[in-house]
Amino acid sequence: MIAAIAKSMRETSAAGLLLVSLAACSTAAQAASYTMYRDAGCGCCLEWADHAAEGLDAEVKAENADMQMVKDLHGVPTELRSCHTMIVEGYVIEGHVPAEVIRKLLREKPKHVIGLAVPGMPVGSPGMEYQDMKQPYQVIAFGPKGQRVFASYN
Ligand code: CU
Ligand code: CU
Repeated sequence: MIAAIAKSMRETSAAGLLLVSLAACSTAAQAASYTMYRDAGCGCCLEWADHAAEGLDAEVKAENADMQMVKDLHGVPTELRSCHTMIVEGYVIEGHVPAEVIRKLLREKPKHVIGLAVPGMPVGSPGMEYQDMKQPYQVIAFGPKGQRVFASYN
C-alpha cells in the first residue's frame, strides 16, 4: 500500500486522484473482516461463512456466543431469527443470506435498514444445500420502520 501511495504521488500531485487511488487500494489490498457469531455446535454456519467470505471478499471471523443474547443486542426481530448472526460494516446479517444480497445492501445502503435476515433455515439457501432441493425463501430487510422483502428466491 505504501508503494502504491508513493507511486501515485509521483504520477500526480492532484489530491483528488490520490484519494481515489487510496480508496481503491484499501479494498483491493485487504479483504474486509466481518464477525460472525455462532453456536459452536452448529455446522451450517461454517458452510455459509465459506460462501460469504468468497462472495464478499472478506475474512469471516467466527466467535462462539450466547446466540439469543447476540440477537437481542443487535435488534434481530424474534420472527426473523436463524442460527448465526454476522456484523458487516455496521449491518446485521441474520441467517443464510446470499452474499450477492449482502453486496447489494452495502452498495445501496437503503434508509431505515439495520439488517437483513433469512428466517429459519431454508433448504437450498447458501450453506443449506441438500441434493437438488430448493425451498423458496425471502430475504427480509428490517429496521426501526418495520420489515420488507429485499430479495426473493423461488
Ligand atoms: Cu444455519
Ligand atoms: Cu448454523
